[in-house]
Amino acid sequence: MAETIRVLISEKEIEARIEKLGEEITKAYQGKELHLICVLKGGAFFMCELAKHIKVPVSLDFMCLSSYGSGTVSSGVVRIAKDLDDAIEGKDVLVVEDIIDSGRTLHYLLDVLEKRHPASLNLCSLLDKPDRREVEVNIDYLGFAIPDEFVVGYGLDYAQKYRNLPYIGVVEGLE
Ligand code: IMP
Ligand code: MG
Repeated sequence: MAETIRVLISEKEIEARIEKLGEEITKAYQGKELHLICVLKGGAFFMCELAKHIKVPVSLDFMCLSSYGSGTVSSGVVRIAKDLDDAIEGKDVLVVEDIIDSGRTLHYLLDVLEKRHPASLNLCSLLDKPDRREVEVNIDYLGFAIPDEFVVGYGLDYAQKYRNLPYIGVVEGLE
């Protein structure tokens, strides 16, 4: 059976929430410059939209992690597939991610980044699946907490598809 997508969070709701997150972040970083680190590929759509709503000076960098695993379950073993272009020492860093699921990917990444001595290190995630957490991760700025369902859109994929959907949807009909 082919999968179908049921809308969970509409484009309007996402845009409104991101605008609010941008305001919150702008307040928190008053008088500072903010270095955003996007976790590819899923975080890309979210980071671009979020950055437009942040009113302090922003610089961007990208990192690509791959967690060995397939389908809808991450194995928890993480590898850096593309590292940052620039050093983060002394910078106020905000990591921008699509979703925190088991927490393993971000737990690993935050640990790696902390060792590079940023001035501050915080996490902003569009989505959180708290029911699935295996490793504790502190999310400083969160878009939405969602139930334990596999979602796509707004950067999130199923087998590399559906990243370009402008809303968050649940994939139905998965084997
Ligand atoms: P974690 O290490 O288990 O927290 O997994 C994080 C990564 O798994 C995310 O960055 C996503 O790439 C992927 N992932 C987890 N849940 C979903 C989902 O519902 N849809 C799409 N990707 C997901
Ligand atoms: Mg991801």
